[in-house]
Amino acid sequence: MKIFIDTADINEIKEIAGWGILEGCTTNPTLVSKTGRPFRDCVQDILNIADGPVSGEALSTEAGGMIKEGEEWAKLDPEKVTIKIPMCVEGLKAIKGLSERNIKSNCTLVFSPNQALLAAKAGATFISPFVGRLDDISHTGMDIVADMVELIEYYGLDSKVIAASIRHPLHVVEAARAGAHIATIPYKVLLQMVRHPLTDAGIRKFYEDYKKIPKPGESAKKP
Ligand code: E4P
Repeated sequence: MKIFIDTADINEIKEIAGWGILEGCTTNPTLVSKTGRPFRDCVQDILNIADGPVSGEALSTEAGGMIKEGEEWAKLDPEKVTIKIPMCVEGLKAIKGLSERNIKSNCTLVFSPNQALLAAKAGATFISPFVGRLDDISHTGMDIVADMVELIEYYGLDSKVIAASIRHPLHVVEAARAGAHIATIPYKVLLQMVRHPLTDAGIRKFYEDYKKIPKPGESAKKP
């Protein structure tokens, strides 16, 4: 399972890229609005830092407009830019149009295996089921990730499933178990994934015991 970061915050992306584990980045209008910067400037900066796919977003309400927006986004970096297209009839038409133009798409706001099947057939590069938002309304969000992966792999479709709307570290484990091709993870959750109380206690103990070891030429210290 690949790891993307779900943020538009450049400092967060720089930090995680520095860990050597970052394989892509997703944003959305809500995340970009928190930066107070124009969408295009944000995506351009992210492209300069992150390897792998980086998302722009189409906000038109009809397919022609979404395709035009996609063409504009793709000019930034035809290899890395991926256009988020919302799941709807016009979105499906736009995904088809973008795929014919070799522009990558990410079908977003997906909440059912049927929606995923349609997006895959239309030629979506990525499909993003929103796990946390389903959990919020008392559905087990991760079930649809497993269903989507099963359908896509059974029929040999090309789309990759991105487990999105990840809210905590257990979601990441569950996404990996469900066979998600990618998980897009908020910065806070990436930090939580690193930490374990036994690791912290072990590091402290080794450090304390290291200080008790005599340096070359010193006599043995008393325990
Ligand atoms: C995915 O691409 C979306 O940006 C994101 O995961 C949505 O998460 P939220 O439901 O926590 O807003």
